[in-house]
Amino acid sequence: MMTSLEGKSIIITGASFGIGQAIAVHLAPYKPKLVLAARNVTGLEVTRLECEKLGLSANNILTVQCDVSKDDNLQNLVDTTIKSFGSIYGLVNNAGYSTKGNIEETDMKDYDGIMRVNLRAPFYLSKLCLPHLKDSKGCVINMSSVVSKKGFLELVPYSLSKAALDHFTHLLAAEIGPFGVRVNSVNPGHIPTEIFPKIGFSEERIAEMESAVQTTTPLRRLGQTEDVAKLVKFLLSDEASYITGETILVDGGMINPVFS
Ligand SMILES: NC(=O)c1ccc[n+]([C@@H]2O[C@H](COP(=O)([O-])OP(=O)(O)OC[C@H]3O[C@@H](n4cnc5c(N)ncnc54)[C@H](O)[C@@H]3O)[C@@H](O)[C@H]2O)c1
Repeated sequence: MMTSLEGKSIIITGASFGIGQAIAVHLAPYKPKLVLAARNVTGLEVTRLECEKLGLSANNILTVQCDVSKDDNLQNLVDTTIKSFGSIYGLVNNAGYSTKGNIEETDMKDYDGIMRVNLRAPFYLSKLCLPHLKDSKGCVINMSSVVSKKGFLELVPYSLSKAALDHFTHLLAAEIGPFGVRVNSVNPGHIPTEIFPKIGFSEERIAEMESAVQTTTPLRRLGQTEDVAKLVKFLLSDEASYITGETILVDGGMINPVFS
């Protein structure tokens, strides 16, 4: 069956692990042309193999080593995509990270690094992709978080970066909507990936956070990377043809504004 994503060129940043990898794997059966970008080449190869196992042919998968904090890497990502596939339909700004800390604890180098990867990179990469997105009447998905809506004191710069990213979604949607390009944000709740140990949370703290989610979130379970990937696929497809400028929670109801 022909799907609306077949043959469409889609860039996913941070595609070597976690949610980015799950998005690539979930999209593979719909036969797009995937551009998998990340710093870790080994992780990218794992993602590539998983996509091939699901029937996406090797010539429809491009892996590009890319540190999104480096402008020349972002330019190279766009140039390589155009050289190989000739167009850009989708841009999934997924790469992101955090360090742990409230305002008093935050080192300003970490603040700058988080803003650079979580906010400046989606801004600059979207800007570089704009002419191609206009040509293809494509779409952008920004990977935000529930903490954009309800800040987390243990992740202050991260919460701020995601709040600003949501506003970037609104502004970009307004700017390029007239060209037929849609821009939306996906805001996950707690999805167990390597991000939590990488942030520096102890095993005990992670277990505590997971238990809180499982006992208080309306759906009473943790999210899975596939829960997020399914929403990304929907937003990229024609099924979402009249949806733009939205920040959509995929959090099991975690920040549902009801006293429990
Ligand atoms: N896991 C969650 O609970 C959760 C919740 C809300 C939002 N998110 C967001 O989802 C996205 C993916 O997170 P994840 O949970 O899969 O984490 P992860 O650490 O498993 O994956 C993050 C990905 O981003 C990449 N990345 C980080 N810095 C990069 C850089 N400078 N250049 C290129 N790639 C870089 C990593 O290499 C990795 O591929 C992030 O934007 C994160 O903020 C995650």
